[in-house]
Amino acid sequence: MMTTFASQDALSSPSVARNRDPILTVLRRVLPPAGTVLEIASGTGEHAVYFAAALPQLTWQPSDQDEQALRSIAAHRAASGLPNLLTPLALDAAAPDWPVEQVDAVVAINMVHISPWRATQGLMAGAGRVLSPGGVLYLYGAYRENGANTAPSNEAFDADLKRRNPDWGVRDLEEVAELAGGHGLKLSERISMPANNLSLVFHR
Ligand SMILES: C[S@@+](CC[C@H](N)C(=O)[O-])C[C@H]1O[C@@H](n2cnc3c(N)ncnc32)[C@H](O)[C@@H]1O
Repeated sequence: MMTTFASQDALSSPSVARNRDPILTVLRRVLPPAGTVLEIASGTGEHAVYFAAALPQLTWQPSDQDEQALRSIAAHRAASGLPNLLTPLALDAAAPDWPVEQVDAVVAINMVHISPWRATQGLMAGAGRVLSPGGVLYLYGAYRENGANTAPSNEAFDADLKRRNPDWGVRDLEEVAELAGGHGLKLSERISMPANNLSLVFHR
């Protein structure tokens, strides 16, 4: 049966247009030349369409835990017609099992600070399970370093996140790296990004 997606399902996030090109520049360099990329917390699906279009040699697997996000990703995917962009998967990063076997890269943009810590714990455990040897975990977002926020604007952002949900908040880079290490993922690169964000690249 064909499922059709109403265009009103296709949500838009203003930050995507601002960060997609700086992120793509990093992804072009750090992602494997071919294979499957699992995107966790794809949100609206706009990144998935943009990156799948720009990186046609990769198969892009979007996912999210949220129903509305899944509908939005599916609507953007249908409108794009991209052959290398797969149907979105319902995937909770915190779940002990993910509905994927093996992938060559895992990408999570703006999730670690906008979800409870157990989502990051699940993300690291899951990436450790599904990444092929030498596979890449790419994270993008705001982080604290050496016990402090990297900019006053991140301090205010952190306070705002915690007001919205006390379980959210800007995480310590060192704690995230240590958690990753416990799942066989080694932090190999930290890249400063616009607006006080970081790209973090881990290798399995
Ligand atoms: C701020 S949005 C970021 C979306 C997109 N990556 C972006 O940068 O526009 C955070 C996303 O994380 C998803 N999320 C939160 N907790 C999650 C979890 N445990 N597993 C999977 N996705 C999760 C939410 O549903 C939401 O789509």
